[in-house]
Amino acid sequence: MTISGKFITLEGVDGAGKSTHLGFVADWLRQQGREVVVTREPGGTPLGETLRELLLHREMDADTELLLMFAARQEHLAGLIRPALARGAWVVSDRFTDASYAYQCGGRGIAAERIAALEAWVQRGFAPDLTLLFDVPPEVAEARRSAARSADRFEREADRFFSRVRNAYLDRAHAEPARIRVLDARHGIAELQVEIGQLLQDVL
Ligand code: TYD
Repeated sequence: MTISGKFITLEGVDGAGKSTHLGFVADWLRQQGREVVVTREPGGTPLGETLRELLLHREMDADTELLLMFAARQEHLAGLIRPALARGAWVVSDRFTDASYAYQCGGRGIAAERIAALEAWVQRGFAPDLTLLFDVPPEVAEARRSAARSADRFEREADRFFSRVRNAYLDRAHAEPARIRVLDARHGIAELQVEIGQLLQDVL
């Protein structure tokens, strides 16, 4: 029997703690005997990582930022995600297109239709099988961000930017409740891992 791979993404505002759970998701799937590829956006390929450096550290126009996010995503899909899924591996990505809706639409105010047009072009109907959205109130994320190492261009944004990002994520989860599962990231790590394990079991 051929077991086909699935695509799982982790999302949340900066400071929600999603990166902590990335390794857990990968280990959990490996324990089920799956080949797992862990990756991230922007990034995941040599060119994508170069674009990430520019995106995180160089000032640029908001539309340029959006277009570079999707250029990196095209490269990611063509060079890593689609080939991995085709050979049956599971792909776990730290962020994907929901982040463009949250940050570039919610945060920066770019029209959702523009993002949808790029999504249709680059993804041609492709979407994650499961998205874990780590949600925390703005003040909790703020406290975690300020405890973190040197801030990049996004992490230096004002609190109200992150409130818009959070609301855009929650709106998307509301519109696609079967794919986007919201986790209360104020919960302890052990408790969250139990919840994550249950969600992964459902997509296996
Ligand atoms: P992040 O995933 O938070 O990595 P780290 O934990 O190393 O800081 O950094 C990526 C940043 O890129 C994050 O601030 C959100 C932003 N981003 C967008 O604005 N749009 C996108 O489409 C993606 C994928 C990321």
